[in-house]
Amino acid sequence: MNNFEKIIVGLEQRSYPIFIGPELLKDADQFLAEFITDKQVIIISDSTIGPLYQGELTRTISPICSKVENLRVAAGEASKSSTVFNTLCEEILNIGIDRKTILIALGGGVIGDLVGFVAASLLRGLDFIQIPTSLLAQVDSSVGGKTGINAKAGKNLIGAFHQPKIVLADTHLLKSLSKREMLSGYAEIVKYGLLGDADFFLWLEDNWSDVLSLQQDKIIYAVKRSCEMKTQIVAADETEQSTRALLNLGHTFAHAFEAVANYNGDLLHGEAVGAGLGLAFDLSAAKHLCSYADAERVHAHLSKVGLPEDYASLPAGKAAVSILIKHMKKDKKVIAGNLTFILAHKIGEACIVPNIHEDEITAFFINKGVNHV
Ligand SMILES: NC(=O)c1ccc[n+]([C@@H]2O[C@H](COP(=O)([O-])OP(=O)(O)OC[C@H]3O[C@@H](n4cnc5c(N)ncnc54)[C@H](O)[C@@H]3O)[C@@H](O)[C@H]2O)c1
Ligand SMILES: [Zn+2]
Repeated sequence: MNNFEKIIVGLEQRSYPIFIGPELLKDADQFLAEFITDKQVIIISDSTIGPLYQGELTRTISPICSKVENLRVAAGEASKSSTVFNTLCEEILNIGIDRKTILIALGGGVIGDLVGFVAASLLRGLDFIQIPTSLLAQVDSSVGGKTGINAKAGKNLIGAFHQPKIVLADTHLLKSLSKREMLSGYAEIVKYGLLGDADFFLWLEDNWSDVLSLQQDKIIYAVKRSCEMKTQIVAADETEQSTRALLNLGHTFAHAFEAVANYNGDLLHGEAVGAGLGLAFDLSAAKHLCSYADAERVHAHLSKVGLPEDYASLPAGKAAVSILIKHMKKDKKVIAGNLTFILAHKIGEACIVPNIHEDEITAFFINKGVNHV
C-alpha cells in the first residue's frame, strides 16, 4: 500500500477512521475489508464520477464481497431532491437488501449527503462508506455525519445525522476535478485556518499553489489538517449545540449569496464561502473584534488564489441588501429574530456572536457601497 495518513473521528461506539493518501482506491479491498467482506455492497455515484471510478472500485472489491451492485444519479445539486431520494430508495429496495447491506457513496458532497441520508433511512439505518471525490467532500462534507437533501423551503432542510463506517479520501481522484471545483473546495481549507489555526493559514499563504496543483505531500497535508480540525470540532459537539457552529465561519453570508444565485451553478458553494470569509473578517474589524490588518490579510490571500473576496465580485452581487437579510434570517442560528454570525478575534480564532440586529448588517453593507436596498 502507498503511504497514507489516518485520523480517527472519536465518537465512542460510532467512531470511524479517515484515510488520506494517493491511490487508495487501488487498495480499497484492504482498507474496506472489515466492513464489506462477504457482504452485499451497493456503490452509488453520479453521472460524471461513475464512469471514471465505479469500474475500478467494483473490480477491486468484488473478490471479497458477496455481491456488488452499481447505481448512478445525475451529477449536480438537483440530485439532492426528494424525487431522486425516493427513486434511489426504490431502486435499492428492488435490488433486494437486508440489514447487512452496505452502501458506498462514491462522489462529491452531493452524493455523500444523498447516499448518507438514503443509508440513514432504508430499513431504519444501513451502514455506509464515504469515498469522497471532490476536494470539498474530502475536507468537509464526508466528515461529521450530516446527511440530507434540499427542500423547496431551503437547502439541507430534510436530513439526519448518520456517521459513515470509514472515509477513504484518495487524493489522486482530485486529478480529474475541474480547477474551479478545486478552488471551491480550497475555500473550506482556508476557513479551517481562519477559524482555528493561524499557523495553518500561514502555511497556506506559502503553499497554496502547490496544494492547488496537487503536489501530493502538500495536498495530503492540507486535507489531513482540515479533517483533523473538523474532526476535533465534531467530536466536541456532534449535533451542533454550540461550538460546531464555528465551522460556519463565512457561511451566514455565503448561504444568502447562494440563495440569491438560486443554486444554479453560476455560484459554487466555495466561491460563496470565499466572499463570506472576507466579509466575516470585515464585519469583525468593523465591530472592533479583530484588526483591519487581519481582514486585509484574509482579502489578500483570497484574491491571490483567485477566490471571490467580497459580495460585489459575485455573479449574484447585485441583489438588494433587504433580500440578503431576508435569506440570512432563514439561518438556523437566528434567535428571536436576531442574527448570529461566526466572526473572529483574529486569524485563527473564530467566535460565535449572537444578537446582531439586521439594521447593523444593513448599515455594514451600505458602508461597503452596497446601497441598492
Ligand atoms: N454534509 C456536510 O457536512 C456538508 C458540508 C459541506 C457541503 N455539503 C454539501 O456538499 C455539496 C457540495 O459538494 P461538492 O462541491 O462536492 O459538489 P458535487 O458533489 O456536486 O461535486 C461537484 C462537481 O464535481 C464533479 N466531481 C466530483 N468529484 C470529481 C472528480 N474526482 N473528478 C471529476 N469530477 C468530479 C461532480 O460530478 C459535480 O459535477 C452541497 O450539496 C453541500 O450542501 C455538505
Ligand atoms: Zn461550506
